[in-house]
Amino acid sequence: MKLALIGFGTVGQGFVEILRDKSTDLKTRYGFTPQLVAVATRSRGTLLLPDGLDPARLLTAIEAGHLHHYPDAPGLVRDLDVPALIRASGADVLLEAGPTNLQTAQPALDYCYAALDQGMHVVLANKGPVAVAYTDLQARARAAGKRVLFEGTVMAGTPSLRLAQQALAGCTIQAARGILNGTTNYILTQIEGGMSYAEALRQAQALGYAEADPTADVDGWDAAGKALILAAALFDRTFTLADLDVQGIASITGADVAAAQAAGERWKLIAHVTPAGGSVRPQRVPNTHPLAAVGGATNAVTFTTDLLGDVTLVGPGAGRRQTGFALLADVLDLL
Ligand code: HSE
Repeated sequence: MKLALIGFGTVGQGFVEILRDKSTDLKTRYGFTPQLVAVATRSRGTLLLPDGLDPARLLTAIEAGHLHHYPDAPGLVRDLDVPALIRASGADVLLEAGPTNLQTAQPALDYCYAALDQGMHVVLANKGPVAVAYTDLQARARAAGKRVLFEGTVMAGTPSLRLAQQALAGCTIQAARGILNGTTNYILTQIEGGMSYAEALRQAQALGYAEADPTADVDGWDAAGKALILAAALFDRTFTLADLDVQGIASITGADVAAAQAAGERWKLIAHVTPAGGSVRPQRVPNTHPLAAVGGATNAVTFTTDLLGDVTLVGPGAGRRQTGFALLADVLDLL
């Protein structure tokens, strides 16, 4: 399977680290021997090598600051623009791990369309195209006889979409409710431990949890984007951000956190979505509630179903390998 990776930041690097570290295991257990034929960054170059790029060398090059540091090799083409790279790659799968734009979804959305037009499957960690253009993407994928998979867009590699769509097939899911943003949950947890808001945010950025622009996290838009994706994937409803009631954690002060603690409660940024609409709001949750125990960058979602009642999934919601793994899981699904 030939892979083209667009976006070589936290998530893309996490995925390539997994390819570097687990290649023997992936080959032995699944017969999976991927060739990473193309890698694109926004400002640090692009590479195309039809015989396959070496994961370890790619990581060394990007750690040195630019893909120019990747050693010369026969057939290596440098610095094509992304549309040309997609056309020339001959890849079976486009992996989109570029930065999320929840308004226009661009440029990632055009890259996804270009890949489908080229007969490639599309796997996304980038939330923008799914949140903004789910119906269109699925229609184009159906027309092309290809698939669009996006496990990494909600709860990183924790299989929230696969649980809802595959394991719960046959149930009607009536609602999804949970903690869908790792950065804000990490910040709230650290503030409870006495850390300042600014330091907690700085750590969340350093740990690779926060979006490129962390206001998307703290103002609730990242969780709202995930609510849009859940509404589309679970209910076939295509809401827009303007349809949701969205509030972030910026208004929560250290004093608010202390007051909640004194009352045996914890602040959590709770996303809620049903076929009728959705919201993202900070809420005080009693310590006895299962969501209260979900700390740090861990996320949780409860699916309310007709046949099973509530089913709750808890797991990593952000992070380098945690989201890189989601790309691997989708690629193995395609395999
Ligand atoms: N910035 C996101 C978060 C990353 O903190 O949850 C995962 O989508």
